[in-house]
Amino acid sequence: MCGIVGYVGEEQCAALLVEGLRKLEYRGYDSAGVAVLGDKGLAVVRAKGKLANLEKRLGESMPQGATGIGHTRWATHGKPSDENAHPHKYGGVAVVHNGIIENHLELKEALISAGHKFSSETDTEIFAHLIQEEIEKGLRLPEAVRAALHNVRGTYALAVVSEKFPDMLVVSKNASPLVVGLGEDCNFVASDVPAILAHTRDVIYLEEGDFAVITKQGVELTDKSGHKLSRGVKRIEWTPTMAEKNGHKHFMHKEIHEQARALTDTIRGRASVEEGDVYLDGCRLDGKLVQRLTKVQIVACGTSWHASITGKLMIETLAKIPVEVDLASEFRYRDPLIDSNTLCIAVSQSGETADTLGSFREAKARGARTLAICNVVGSAIAREAEDVLYTHAGPEIGVASTKAFTTQLAAFFLLAVRLGRLRGTLSAAAAQRYLQALNEVPMLVDRVLKYEDVIKQAAHKFSQARDLLFLGRGPQYPVALEGALKLKEISYIHAEGYAAGEMKHGPIALIDENMPVMVLAPRDSDEEAGVNYEKILGNIQEVRARGGRVIAIHSEGDTKVPALAEACIPLPQTNPLLMPIVSVIPTQLFSYHVADHRGTDVDQPRNLAKSVTVE
Ligand code: G6P
Repeated sequence: MCGIVGYVGEEQCAALLVEGLRKLEYRGYDSAGVAVLGDKGLAVVRAKGKLANLEKRLGESMPQGATGIGHTRWATHGKPSDENAHPHKYGGVAVVHNGIIENHLELKEALISAGHKFSSETDTEIFAHLIQEEIEKGLRLPEAVRAALHNVRGTYALAVVSEKFPDMLVVSKNASPLVVGLGEDCNFVASDVPAILAHTRDVIYLEEGDFAVITKQGVELTDKSGHKLSRGVKRIEWTPTMAEKNGHKHFMHKEIHEQARALTDTIRGRASVEEGDVYLDGCRLDGKLVQRLTKVQIVACGTSWHASITGKLMIETLAKIPVEVDLASEFRYRDPLIDSNTLCIAVSQSGETADTLGSFREAKARGARTLAICNVVGSAIAREAEDVLYTHAGPEIGVASTKAFTTQLAAFFLLAVRLGRLRGTLSAAAAQRYLQALNEVPMLVDRVLKYEDVIKQAAHKFSQARDLLFLGRGPQYPVALEGALKLKEISYIHAEGYAAGEMKHGPIALIDENMPVMVLAPRDSDEEAGVNYEKILGNIQEVRARGGRVIAIHSEGDTKVPALAEACIPLPQTNPLLMPIVSVIPTQLFSYHVADHRGTDVDQPRNLAKSVTVE
């Protein structure tokens, strides 16, 4: 996601800020900027695109000052542009922010009614306005920031400077990471350690709700209500490359571990449990339009296609609209039956995949209403769509997709609930239950990640396999497909995903003691009577009867499945439609640890590309 760096000390800081931002480039960004506070006041310089563009502007007129903040932006609200780049300035206040403000629309409306004029489409600019207002009422900068935060709901890592209070940075953290660096006669703040590692190895990691006033003499920490805090100083021993990965060996591993955060960002501000409904910014689907839909057509490639198969189940179950899912490369050339009563959904992490874009255009040309589920703001597919539902996964650097997949599933679920409410197939009470379950998913994801050691042991045990079969039924079938794709992508082990009931029509011929089989076998939940669990127990027996070795992903507390398996990975339980978000995690970690054990290039597997922009 976005990167923050801040400095307060005795040196001219504009170049130092840019150097810090350069160390955060790996996080992905589409624009950058700095705000520098000096004798001549507050100067803000911003530029769309790479840091080189910002440096060019700075070269034309380098702002002078020894207090400053810098930012690399990865768009979430508003396209990548000079105006939307941070820092955002209003009056004498400049702000950089990572995260998402949930109630930005209502705050913005209130400010506009009070006469404020906005110069960007971002949620962040609101902070500058709110803080400036508080300063005008007579508050000092720290109190003004605290008062402004009082009105804000959402996630943030925030750094603020003010002309009226020079030589001071005020920062606060809620859910987005922020670290304070301790120097000599200077101090720093950053969203991640690499930005400041060239200057200091002594850092304080801020925790949720922490608030800090940073001057060159020191750092004063307080909690949400203003009580003084003390937090331990950590000495960073990482190499710069390790620091970029936040201590993880690979980006893929880091991204697997970021999933609870990414899911929270995707769900927050959209799911209202109280009202039993979903608010989708960027989607103007109204009741009339949705009522006349006769079909949903989804197009996607790779991992996004697997998310789409699960999306079909969600939409058909909750909104009762028939859904077709096509591989984008096939859809374009099969003369599809599409008309103006079709909603075509393109699903793409990058928003640049050529086949998905081509299919989407084809559907549009045939009159379909178009909606994109996409992770990159302003990408080609997002631009092509009438409605866009952004996943807020943050940039995904590992070629093998992980957090993009789980956030796509969350986005599909939100969309399915919304469509169900608009069509009247889902009552408010039922929607409340579904949304409550969705809100709990990030916590369940964190719980699965705690089983990493068990998963790693299983991965090492089977890391020399030549082939591996993944089996699942119902909502777990797409997870089996995705598990197999992940394993083959990064470990180069031949793997296939199958609907467990289909095994006897072919793959069973392959099963012997050399064929490990990973079975996705969570229990059916009590609320929806299902048959998948009983049936998959039978499938496991079929594998065992032929000497196959079973790796089971099973519900916590279950004893039947573990009794039949050589390796067992437990999982918490949730609604079956949401289970894939939870159950895919062990398959990601399993593939990761197999690949790492085999020593392959996990983040950039041979022959694969992150964005496939050719047909
Ligand atoms: C490539 C990537 C996959 C991805 C697929 C579709 O093959 O390696 O990880 O699933 O493209 O990409 P998209 O950006 O459209 O989701």
